[in-house]
Amino acid sequence: RFHPVILSGGSGTRLWPLSRAAMPKQLLALTEQASLLQATIRRVDSIAGAQSSILICNNEHRFLIREQLQEIQHTPASIILEPIGRNTAPAIALAALKLMETDPEAVMLVLPADHVIDDQAAFKAAVYQAIPAAEAGYLVTFGIVPTHPETGYGYIRMGEALSDLSSENPSCQVLSFVEKPDQQTAQRFLAEGNYVWNSGMFVLTARRYLDELQTHRPDIFEAVAQAWKARTDDLGFCRPDQEAFVGCPSDSIDYAVMQSTQQAAVIPASFGWSDVGSWASLWQIADKDAEGNCIQGDVFVSDTQNSYVRAEHRHVAVIGLEDVVVVETADAVLVMHRDKAQEVKRAIQFFEQSQ
Ligand code: GDD
Ligand code: MG
Repeated sequence: RFHPVILSGGSGTRLWPLSRAAMPKQLLALTEQASLLQATIRRVDSIAGAQSSILICNNEHRFLIREQLQEIQHTPASIILEPIGRNTAPAIALAALKLMETDPEAVMLVLPADHVIDDQAAFKAAVYQAIPAAEAGYLVTFGIVPTHPETGYGYIRMGEALSDLSSENPSCQVLSFVEKPDQQTAQRFLAEGNYVWNSGMFVLTARRYLDELQTHRPDIFEAVAQAWKARTDDLGFCRPDQEAFVGCPSDSIDYAVMQSTQQAAVIPASFGWSDVGSWASLWQIADKDAEGNCIQGDVFVSDTQNSYVRAEHRHVAVIGLEDVVVVETADAVLVMHRDKAQEVKRAIQFFEQSQ
């Protein structure tokens, strides 16, 4: 038995102009009919032992999220609304406090709502390997065996296999975390071989997580505990106390807990994972035509290769270009080289400042 905890708080800024604060990446249908959130819930629901999920999202998205859950007929155990994003450490703590009320030893499977996983069977196998490690007291993360020197992910340096688990269990020690390295460093990690991508997915018990958070970040622990104690429930939504939660420091589980705990474990895995964080990674995983183009909407291309072209509202034509991304929406158009996909953030900053 395990409890899926779905994080749906980010906004996916690098997929601008399609993703916006009001319509974040996880609620978009990027590669199939279903949104990434819907695909995440379906994927985990089909694994035997999954209890109903706990969702943690921003207050602003509550109705969109409820609608998307209804579309796939999923009744969550709880939808916890954050008045403001405080990153993943506090968000996961809210879910853990909720589970503590009924089952302190509950195993949580923490999943970002905005990832793509191709190989469902391999994913399921990794989950089943992680559960006994979590029950033995480890905070387990899945490390994806890297396929290229990606700079959009964090990396985990792996150590020895953990000796106190069964000999078939692939869990290894975590030596260190390195968040989003530059190209050169990423290349070195790939060459050294004992580095995996930080997938942002975790398997841990509610009690263990809260204990470690209290040890390493008592400030976050106290603020979230306060917010949880003074929560209100209405209309099927659970609202932690606004004032207490806004006062909580912002930090990721990677930095707040995983980096400091003695109990971190990593399971190296390959299940066709991508966090579709950028237009380049979306192009990478998408179905492409013989010219290497991925085309969506009312688009004409000619003499064009290895490009991603998406039209939402108007006709878009691309002629004689290579390795470009063109994304057209009602009020914004993005044209960029595919190699510069991490730099979309600069455009967003520019338009925010000029408003
Ligand atoms: N509920 C909630 N509240 N969810 C959040 C919050 C929050 O305040 N902040 C982030 N999340 C969710 C996002 O929706 C996303 O699913 C996940 O947590 C990770 O946050 P991102 O903002 O997407 O982080 P990132 O992609 O830049 O980097 C992280 O994830 C990579 C893998 O996808 C890091 O952990 C990297 O090391 C990692 O490789
Ligand atoms: Mg991400």
